[in-house]
Amino acid sequence: MTGTTKARYDGSILSFQQKRGQESSAFFLPFLKSDMRLLDIGCGPGNITATLAAHVGAAVGIDIQTRSIAAADELVEAAGIGNLSFREADMTTLPFDDEAFDAVFFHAVLYHQDQPTLTRTLAEAMRVLRPGGLVATRDADVGGNILHPDLPGLRIALDLWQRWYEHGEPDVLNFGRRQGAILRAHGFLPVWTGASYVNHSADEETRRETVEDARRSLNSLGVRLIERDGATQAELDEALSAWDVWGAEPDAVYLRCRCECIARKPGAA
Ligand SMILES: C[S@@+](CC[C@H](N)C(=O)[O-])C[C@H]1O[C@@H](n2cnc3c(N)ncnc32)[C@H](O)[C@@H]1O
Repeated sequence: MTGTTKARYDGSILSFQQKRGQESSAFFLPFLKSDMRLLDIGCGPGNITATLAAHVGAAVGIDIQTRSIAAADELVEAAGIGNLSFREADMTTLPFDDEAFDAVFFHAVLYHQDQPTLTRTLAEAMRVLRPGGLVATRDADVGGNILHPDLPGLRIALDLWQRWYEHGEPDVLNFGRRQGAILRAHGFLPVWTGASYVNHSADEETRRETVEDARRSLNSLGVRLIERDGATQAELDEALSAWDVWGAEPDAVYLRCRCECIARKPGAA
């Protein structure tokens, strides 16, 4: 590993990654046991997988992106976690034996899938789980987001993001709350549902970063949406100025809803 690469995982980045990993997986931790084998599907840079690994016997993360797996491998090396490994793989054709895992985790992965991919992915999760094994999902529910002040321009901003990322699929706005029904429709037995929030307004600095991120994102995708007739300049302008108004409000709130669901594969507990 080069000195430059190693520097990316200094103490502050590691502790930020750990905090995010803990927030994202807290709902699942009470269900985990120290002898379990866990698979994190679509693990990204592996920070959530690393948190989960501390609560099970062995954890494996898979992701289709080479750069995500490279970052995850660096994280393992930097943090020195012995029971954790990562592998490049496609979640629709998992390179694991039937019933190889006691638990499967999806974080911010299923939301983005079209129906055929979702069905293939959940069939693979079912195959690699032992009977009675657990699947846990945590995903966005834009309809559950809390905004104050709830300015029309902010709603336009959320809509622009939805148009860009979710291809105009209206159901995706309420994906999070439908996870239990979706898992049940794919043969799992839901045992627990809940929700938590990602806080983008905790203090002044967080609010300032939220506005900067929103402006950067809207300026980038808004221009491309306008080019393909998916938005107007007036909508983009209203969205940008609403974030400025929101950022100037000392009691502004932006809490992004994440719905959570845990289900079992039918069979022996
Ligand atoms: C929004 S990211 C979430 C990453 C991580 N779970 C987290 O919450 O930090 C979605 C991840 O799913 C991965 N992904 C998308 N399609 C996939 C597929 N067919 N097989 C495996 N991973 C996939 C992407 O590469 C990406 O890392």
